[in-house]
Amino acid sequence: MLRLARTLCEQTVKTSKLFLPPRRPTALMSTLLIHHPQYAWLQELGLREENAGVYNGNWRGGGEVITTYCPANNEPIARIRQASMEDYHETVKEAKEAWKMWAEVPAPKRGEIVRKIGDALREKIQILGKLVSLEMGKILVEGIGEVQEYVDICDYAAGLSRMIGGPILPSERPGHALIEQWNPLGLVGIITAFNFPVAVFGWNNAIALITGNVCIWKGAPTTSLVSIAVTKIVAKVLEDNDLPGAICSLTCGGADIGTAMAKDARVNLLSFTGSTQVGKQVALMVQERFGKSLLELGGNNAIIAFEDADLSLVLPSALFAAVGTAGQRCTSVRRLFLHERIHEEVVQRLKSAYSQIRVGNPWDPNILYGPLHTKNAVKMFVGAVEEAKREGGTVVYGGKVMDHPGNYVEPTIVTGLPHDAPIVHTETFAPILYVFKFKTEEEVFTWNNEVKQGLSSSIFTKDLGRIFRWLGPKGSDCGIVNVNIPTSGAEIGGAFGGEKHTGGGRESGSDAWKQYMRRSTCTINYSTNLPLAQGIKFE
Ligand code: UN1
Repeated sequence: MLRLARTLCEQTVKTSKLFLPPRRPTALMSTLLIHHPQYAWLQELGLREENAGVYNGNWRGGGEVITTYCPANNEPIARIRQASMEDYHETVKEAKEAWKMWAEVPAPKRGEIVRKIGDALREKIQILGKLVSLEMGKILVEGIGEVQEYVDICDYAAGLSRMIGGPILPSERPGHALIEQWNPLGLVGIITAFNFPVAVFGWNNAIALITGNVCIWKGAPTTSLVSIAVTKIVAKVLEDNDLPGAICSLTCGGADIGTAMAKDARVNLLSFTGSTQVGKQVALMVQERFGKSLLELGGNNAIIAFEDADLSLVLPSALFAAVGTAGQRCTSVRRLFLHERIHEEVVQRLKSAYSQIRVGNPWDPNILYGPLHTKNAVKMFVGAVEEAKREGGTVVYGGKVMDHPGNYVEPTIVTGLPHDAPIVHTETFAPILYVFKFKTEEEVFTWNNEVKQGLSSSIFTKDLGRIFRWLGPKGSDCGIVNVNIPTSGAEIGGAFGGEKHTGGGRESGSDAWKQYMRRSTCTINYSTNLPLAQGIKFE
């Protein structure tokens, strides 16, 4: 990742030939990209002109037909038949039925299936990464990178399937055993966002499966082809192993399906990734029925560079975290705090690095910066830049929509705003970096924590004492607390998630598996006496 970011600093701009629309031989003239020879590879993923968006062992889709568009040129790719309410209810029924057998499969055997899913993804990693790039708009290495995250979590989950379990605790009563037993929850609903259409599903899917759950997935409607292509890969593994496909169900759809999942008491855990605003509605609906939710919501992440920071780490880190995925990661850096002694130099060097970013079609392997996902995202970008200016900020780099097809905006740097300006405290899912000057550790740690979100944070320093203060009770209040690396690009081995308005959920590695299981505390009396705890005599 750092190598990528370093290269990014060193390269020159090559924007010619970048925005050529896809070649269309007249004989094959068609409105959908899937019909063009240069996108014939989409068929290798099992995609067609119109695709069933529901899988529960069989493919179907009786709901609204939608089209997804390529963010780099806003051309339609292919159509999707989403889930009707009837499809949804039928799928939940099938998934619940499938759970009855899946829960009985020994965990290491479930791990074996997840390992095979990882292997199947390995075979398609390039082509699936390319689809992510085409439909989501992120650059190719990042598209492939998120399929790699799914592969990695499959490997991790396969190992974990032989390790999960509870302790045997010392009982205060003679002849008694006190043990913790973990059981699956049942049906895990997974709602994912457009920006990580593969990896975030993968984290949830792999861990949910080895812990004995079945899944029902609703991806973002704008990345439905990715959801379908991934499900086809997973479904083949299940079917080849004579397992019910409904173990990994898919119901493509919009807010109607999302709301149904949130309100449905049959969905034992709802894992939701998306905005804080929608996440709050989801959380309330799930809480209303005393269900469980796992929330990964917004971030408003900061990088802090102290006067002793190694600038050869700060610059590529800030660049990768701000400009990578065109600023559309929940871990993207929004606020860059620079010690007053290095502020000027870093801003100048960052501007120069920004001017060398290679912009273009995201699936071109030479490109480092692609479009925003939708036209609406472009509007939000424009609105935020205007607001930043109104609040006293100076745009020192970028700030404009690019004059090209697709949803391209200039990566943008804004200086001169107060650290607590309203726009700074608002997460805009776009490549806008607000840069600030600070004097002391105490003030900048406070500024790091003063936003409502609490996802990711990084400091750059060589001071050991400061590093441990940063990790300690008065340091960063985020779920991800880094030193000398960017805010984005977390590994799967750690628990991923954040505090406060980020929702408090933890997915992926470490002990995040516990969120997908229920714990029973079991006291077993193997003696012939009945001593009561706390020494109570009840006779
Ligand atoms: C997200 O943006 O929702 O740490 C997930 C990262 C990625 C995951 C981001 N591994 O940037």
